[in-house]
Amino acid sequence: MNQDPNSQPHSASRRDFLKASTFAAGAAALGGLSLARSAHAAGSDLVKIALIGCGGRGTGAAANALSTKANVRLVAMADAFKDSLDASLGALRKQFKDRVDVPDERKFVGLDGYQKAMESGVDLVLLCTPPGFRPMQFEAAVKAGKHVFMEKPLATDAPGIRRIRAANETAKQKKLAVAVGHHLRHERQYRDIVGRIHRGEIGELKYLRVYFDMGPLWIRPRRPNQTEMQYQVRNWYYFTWLSGDHIVEQHVHDLDVGNWMAREHPIEAQGMGGRQVRVGKDVGEIFDHHAVEFTYASGVKMFSYCRQIAGCWDSFSQHATGTQGSADIVGHGSAVMQVAGQPPKKWRRAHDGHQIEMDDLLAALAAGKTYNEVDRAADSTMTAILGRMATYSGKLVTWEAAVNSQLDLTPKKLAWDGKTLVKPGPDGCYPCAMPGVTKAW
Ligand SMILES: NC(=O)c1ccc[n+]([C@@H]2O[C@H](COP(=O)([O-])OP(=O)(O)OC[C@H]3O[C@@H](n4cnc5c(N)ncnc54)[C@H](O)[C@@H]3O)[C@@H](O)[C@H]2O)c1
Repeated sequence: MNQDPNSQPHSASRRDFLKASTFAAGAAALGGLSLARSAHAAGSDLVKIALIGCGGRGTGAAANALSTKANVRLVAMADAFKDSLDASLGALRKQFKDRVDVPDERKFVGLDGYQKAMESGVDLVLLCTPPGFRPMQFEAAVKAGKHVFMEKPLATDAPGIRRIRAANETAKQKKLAVAVGHHLRHERQYRDIVGRIHRGEIGELKYLRVYFDMGPLWIRPRRPNQTEMQYQVRNWYYFTWLSGDHIVEQHVHDLDVGNWMAREHPIEAQGMGGRQVRVGKDVGEIFDHHAVEFTYASGVKMFSYCRQIAGCWDSFSQHATGTQGSADIVGHGSAVMQVAGQPPKKWRRAHDGHQIEMDDLLAALAAGKTYNEVDRAADSTMTAILGRMATYSGKLVTWEAAVNSQLDLTPKKLAWDGKTLVKPGPDGCYPCAMPGVTKAW
């Protein structure tokens, strides 16, 4: 795990890339095949992109893709809701003008819009929907033979992680490039510091501390005539089946850095959490704080904290302590490394990883390099899910038990009239996990 995808040897040519992007099953291949052949024959290196999930990050990811040096064009967009799609398209057209070619017939609204976007002759899809939909949409992208950029986290439960891993084996066979939005892995100062930790500059690793403490987030009030499914998808952050809870949705960034520093995933976790301030009808079922002690096979501990409560101490940071010194990374990359007997080494925040990760993906595609970030990202999402299982249950949970969990949080019918598994009580509030009682895996 934790390989740098950019360091992998060239194992696929540019021709393979174009072929792979049109590795679509059956008749669906025809549109893509002709695209690839004509593109290749004309010596074109145009990469056609579909954005799926046109919210804040999706619009940002599309902007990053359109800002690379590669010859790219955004040609299709899909979103559950028309207003989100239109707002995103308007902003992207304004900024990128003729790099955005999304006519009405390539705008797809609804829960099945993603499939239509994948069938519209594109090479690369950006999956930026809530993570509860990621396994289903990644499976579809791989089946359709598309290269993928997908946001973290990769799923919200263990069955979802197993689907991601299985689809990824097919993606590897099809030589599809797959990037995952752990942008910190691409930031140069993170690479430098973690490389130094791996080379033993702070001695033998003893423990890690990771934090994502901040205030509360947006709320999208219930609208008249909304079905319960529409309400939950709009307010996806507050429902565990859609976001994984904030320990999964957000804190996964820090847990990923911890796993990267430790060069493995934890083998067990225990922790505590709850919702002290996040109460009421508008805030679904998730907790507002989690504190977890993860244990790695090496004996190294990772102490993890995440909180979304106003008026408290805030921190987005990752810290490693070794036998000879320590490394502290604060707020996306300002950092200091202190080693006994040496002057401290300091780093300032460098270039934004969101742009670098997209530059790296499109450069790999242009060079025909093998590129796959899924295995390590699946470990990190699973680490976060393990942490949530520990805080929701109040029990010690092993990695083995967590990865084999059969607890599937996704409703059977994903349609606006489909039944959600989580429902508000008579007071309009949603029940939340009860440590000591809840079966969390
Ligand atoms: N890497 C990062 O720094 C970073 C930052 C923010 C968000 N994210 C991730 O990006 C993803 C999206 O987050 P966001 O902040 O953009 O949320 P958002 O609510 O702003 O956007 C999500 C969009 O997806 C749409 N959507 C929901 N379900 C859909 C479906 N089934 N099919 C199509 N569209 C659907 C919504 O209507 C919305 O427009 C999440 O996984 C989040 O964790 C990553």
